Amino acid sequence: MKIGILISGRGSNMMAIAEAAKVGLIENCEISVVISDKADALGLKKAKNIGLKTVVIERNGRKREVHDAEIITELKKYSVDFICLAGYMRLLSAEFVLAFQNQIINIHPSLLPSFPGLDAQQQAFEYGVHLTGCTVHFVDEQLDHGAIISQKSVSIKADDTLQTLSEKILHEEHKLYVETLNKLSTKKFEINGRKITFK
Ligand code: GRF
Repeated sequence: MKIGILISGRGSNMMAIAEAAKVGLIENCEISVVISDKADALGLKKAKNIGLKTVVIERNGRKREVHDAEIITELKKYSVDFICLAGYMRLLSAEFVLAFQNQIINIHPSLLPSFPGLDAQQQAFEYGVHLTGCTVHFVDEQLDHGAIISQKSVSIKADDTLQTLSEKILHEEHKLYVETLNKLSTKKFEINGRKITFK
C-alpha cells in the first residue's frame, strides 16, 4: 500500500503513521511522499529527519483549484493508494476529491458529526459533553463530512483541562489512524454510501 501524506503543521499523526509503517504495524505500507502547503511546517523537518521524501506546494494566493491541481499532479507520480490528511488545514476542491474517490482520508479530533471545523477539542470541552474522541473518515468536498471509517471515544473528566483533554485525544488519534490504515491495507472492506463495512 502506497500512501501520500498531506500536512500543514507539527506532523505528529504523520510521524505515528511513519513509525508504525516502519515496524510493520501497518502491513506493507510505504510512504511515497509527504506534501506540505507550508514551507515552515514542523512536520516537514521531522519527515526529512527520518528520510521521507518531502515536497512543499504552497498556495501563494492561487485559486484553490490551481493549487490542488499541482498537488494532484505530484501525487499521481507515485500511484498512491491512499492520501492521508494529517493536520492539513485546507478544504479540498471537488476536482481533488474526484481525482481520488474513496482514497482520501482525514483524522478529526472529535466524534463527528459533533464539533466539525477548527478547535474541535475546545468546542467539546466548552459544550460540556462527557464523551468526545476522534474520527477517521473519507474526505468529500464538505468540511469534516465524508463517510466515517472509524472512531474512538475519550471521556472528559471533571479534572480535565483543555490541554489534558487535547493530549488524550491526540494519543488516541495516533493509535486510531494506524489501526485504520492497517485495516484499509487489507482492502477487505465495502463502501455503500456512508457505510463502510470491514470483512
Ligand atoms: C490533529 O488533531 C488532527 O486531528 C487535526 O489536526 C491535528 C494535526 O496534528 N486534523 P498533527 O499535525 O498530526 O500533530
